[in-house]
Amino acid sequence: MLSLLQTVLLCAGSLISRSVVCPAGSLMGTYLAEQPGVPISIPVTSNCTGIKKIPDDDHPFIAPGPDDQRGPCPGLNTLANHGYLPRNGIVTFAQIVEAVGEGFNMEYDLAAALAAFAMLGRGNAYLDLVSIGGESPLIPPLPGFIDGHHAPYGISKHGRFEGDMSITRQDAAIGDNVNFQEDLYDELLLYTGKYGDDSPVTGNSSIVTLKVMQEFKYSRFLEDQVKNPVLEYHPGRFATSYGEAAFVLEFFANGTDGKLSVPAMGSFFRYQTFPQNFYRRPSPADIGVIGWTSHRIMIAHPLRPGANAPNGTYVPDIVPRSCDHVYYDLAVKNLPATLMTTTGLFRKNIDFLLNKTATPFDCPVIPPIGAPDI
Ligand code: HEM
Repeated sequence: MLSLLQTVLLCAGSLISRSVVCPAGSLMGTYLAEQPGVPISIPVTSNCTGIKKIPDDDHPFIAPGPDDQRGPCPGLNTLANHGYLPRNGIVTFAQIVEAVGEGFNMEYDLAAALAAFAMLGRGNAYLDLVSIGGESPLIPPLPGFIDGHHAPYGISKHGRFEGDMSITRQDAAIGDNVNFQEDLYDELLLYTGKYGDDSPVTGNSSIVTLKVMQEFKYSRFLEDQVKNPVLEYHPGRFATSYGEAAFVLEFFANGTDGKLSVPAMGSFFRYQTFPQNFYRRPSPADIGVIGWTSHRIMIAHPLRPGANAPNGTYVPDIVPRSCDHVYYDLAVKNLPATLMTTTGLFRKNIDFLLNKTATPFDCPVIPPIGAPDI
């Protein structure tokens, strides 16, 4: 006999398996009415923000099991494979902020903005849970179904956060946008072979440099612009796409010498495990560090945010007037306006998270205006 909770979780899960027959609406309604919310817990920050060998003995690599969620972010996948995040890939706001701080020395406000954006866009902010992969039966729909009658999609879902022009994931419209793609990684290796620095340890052209990323990112743009008829590269995605390239240089590099070798990069992207003798960076990287590295990658071949028109031409955006156009495009236009219809603890959690998305941009919170259920 299934308990009420199990039945509801299976019903949420049946959105994936479709093998369980659920009573129409009523049971889910009962459960949601009774479901206790969870106040977002505040991350515990460490005073130690220097260089550190990662992983420690308490965090061995264990490959994910079939029910563990993994997705498009090699940083979060690696942290889950080492138990810095829950190994099932179902995580809270505080767990994300603490894990990226400990494992990679990502600065608090930047980590909190990313974690908050993921929770609001693709998780359940009432229960403080988000999947670092796809839908999970462990995360029920939002109370009142304010973002659709389905379990939250998790960060793998295209739109809001996951977007076009990734490094090793294909655009959703033309391929697999979640899992590591060997052919795209080969392109990155090709540019490393051309523009990488030499190393006495890992060999000639084996160090991934700024120049490698500048040329690789530009080539990805040229190729995607032609291949993806519905390419979207608006300010939010434009910034996060260059930001991810900056993450590779800033967070995957070894803290000892600031260098990123091909074997180390392969360890993160291909195997989602920390390389041998990895030390996290010696100082926290905040939005300023990542913004500056992103800018230096982009400026070698200056581009503007935009999207493909139906005739296949790339049309640059007219950037809106707002406190910060990246913040506006990501957290205001992209998150569902229905978040603002909530009350009580749910609303408290949402207000806390909205505040975190605005903080590193130095903007006042602007209420979201995006569509629900996308
Ligand atoms: C702080 C919480 C984080 C969240 C919520 C997050 C979320 C995501 C998401 C949704 C994507 C997919 C975007 C796309 O390419 O379409 C992504 C990609 C990526 N993330 Fe994270 N991430 C976080 C932290 C990190 C950290 C700490 C690192 C590095 C150590 C990292 C490295 C990357 C890289 C390199 C990609 C691009 C993957 C590729 O295109 O192949 N992320 N992340």
